[in-house]
Amino acid sequence: IRSTFLDYFQGNGHRVVESSPLVPKDDPTLLFTNAGMVQFKDFFLGLKKPPYKRAVSAQRCVRAGGKHNDLDNVGFTARHHTFFEMLGNFSFGDYFKEEAILYSWELLTEVLGIPKSKLWITVLEGDDESANLWLNKIGLEKERLIYCGESDNFWMMGETGPCGPCSEIFYDHGPSVPGGPPGSATADGDRFVEIWNLVFMQYEKSSTGQMSRIPAPCVDTGMGLERVSAVLQGVTNNYDIDLFAKLISGCAKIFPESDVSNNSLKVIADHIRSCSFLIADGVLPSNEGRGYVLRRIIRRALRHGHKLGNKELFFYQLVELLVREMGGAYSVLSEKSDLLAVTLKSEEERFLETLDHGMKILLEHIKKSKNKNIAGEVAFQLYDTYGFPVDLTAD
Ligand code: ALA
Repeated sequence: IRSTFLDYFQGNGHRVVESSPLVPKDDPTLLFTNAGMVQFKDFFLGLKKPPYKRAVSAQRCVRAGGKHNDLDNVGFTARHHTFFEMLGNFSFGDYFKEEAILYSWELLTEVLGIPKSKLWITVLEGDDESANLWLNKIGLEKERLIYCGESDNFWMMGETGPCGPCSEIFYDHGPSVPGGPPGSATADGDRFVEIWNLVFMQYEKSSTGQMSRIPAPCVDTGMGLERVSAVLQGVTNNYDIDLFAKLISGCAKIFPESDVSNNSLKVIADHIRSCSFLIADGVLPSNEGRGYVLRRIIRRALRHGHKLGNKELFFYQLVELLVREMGGAYSVLSEKSDLLAVTLKSEEERFLETLDHGMKILLEHIKKSKNKNIAGEVAFQLYDTYGFPVDLTAD
């Protein structure tokens, strides 16, 4: 799927560009690379001249902090990850809405063979230009075109930076999955899943909140590899795709009491990806900034291992399996595999000393609690004495 995407856009005049690392270069506004466009930010803003007008990439992304944060959704939905791969095509002042829409439709329906009747589209309220393209150029039935407000259909990289209206493509997994169409009260369910976002970059938001026009309209798109894989592999949950199935069955071997549908295994499989890629890209566990986000994700994974009855070191053992699965597409992972295992193992050793005791205290307080509340003092003691990040306690 990854190479079909890259080949399709390469065949349409796009330069194939390697994924950039998860730690953005020279960009203090951002914790982690959270989208394919991050490495092209200066091209959109007109600060650097791009050596090509069209690009395509498969970008490794982490959304576990800052404006785009999916950490709290992992383990609760079928479609969220801390680490995922974003396939994207980009135009730097070259084509705009029409070609972006035509390319996406051709790739989805003709190259990948997804039935048109399963696809729903959203556009920003007032963006009649995009709506007309979908209805008249593509021939989309108007029942499956939905106008949404800015919270859904205006994409921003972060608190500042390039931004613009967007049009999102959803796949309907059918009535066996709970959830309503985009824009409805139950849109958060897993039935209608956003698979591809087409952003029509036109503005830059400054730190004072001012919007100014960028030098030329641009296109930035992002398709979730794991979500599209679920569609093409005929499963309704991202954690059932081939990539995850192998990681999860590998995890299940470590915890003989668990079966592969266990939610904790999904969380661990998700977290081994983000933690390994973060370490490979130069982040080390620490008590602040990026390193603290990494430490929090590791500790959450360990807590889920503990929930499955584990009292031994286990997390680092998954590195080998992950490298086997993803090292081909991302050589940085195979090159650093020793560092990944050593780092995770020592982090695990540190936390295992206090995890068991801390969990006992936490569970006692949860048992006694009313309305799912525990006292701030307890949360603080768990943090201060037992190394429980407060989001782990909340989780
Ligand atoms: N940058 C856009 C997104 O992340 C495509 O959704």
